[in-house]
Amino acid sequence: MKFETVVVGALETNCYLVFCEETRECVIVDPGAEPEKIFRSIGEKNLKPTILANTHGHVDHVGANKDIKDKFDIPLCIHAADSSLLDNILASAMGFFIGAKKSPKPDRFLDEGESIHFGKSFLEVLHTPGHSPGSISLIGDGFLLSGDVLFCGGVGRTDLPGGSWDQLENSIKEKIFVLPDETLVLPGHGPSTSVGQEKNSNPFVRW
Ligand SMILES: [Fe+2]
Repeated sequence: MKFETVVVGALETNCYLVFCEETRECVIVDPGAEPEKIFRSIGEKNLKPTILANTHGHVDHVGANKDIKDKFDIPLCIHAADSSLLDNILASAMGFFIGAKKSPKPDRFLDEGESIHFGKSFLEVLHTPGHSPGSISLIGDGFLLSGDVLFCGGVGRTDLPGGSWDQLENSIKEKIFVLPDETLVLPGHGPSTSVGQEKNSNPFVRW
């Protein structure tokens, strides 16, 4: 299992293409904007998208869902608690600003313990609420896609609708900090980090 990062849009969202090296089948995670840039990366790597997943329903992570779905006709997956956010993305000024399109309805809901399969690989779902009620993190081969839950030296904001500091702190401590220290953390924005590094130095969550 390998991944490719495509940084998209004004908020520099990390869209991840996680793929099976053998079959080239891939999951597209958080296509927030700039669909052409994502298509280019898929073409260059010779990938075959089979599934589309959102770590949560905020506009900067879902703004190109429609373009992806139109081009590849693959199932869209998100946690049920964030699916209503998909209906509201155009209501925000930010949605307009980054050129987001109205998202299609999800085809499948993801919850804790489920897996997303592509080729001979799979990602495992953790429900990590706090930044939004339906935020998920995805465990891959030695890495974790943490969405907007945990960043390098930071954590997700909790002041948006449905956000909760207590939930965010619990998610990070009980679901993420229990993973092996060497686990590479790939956040929804900014540089990668590791579980060990954040346990030792993240100023927002004491371990
Ligand atoms: Fe977010």
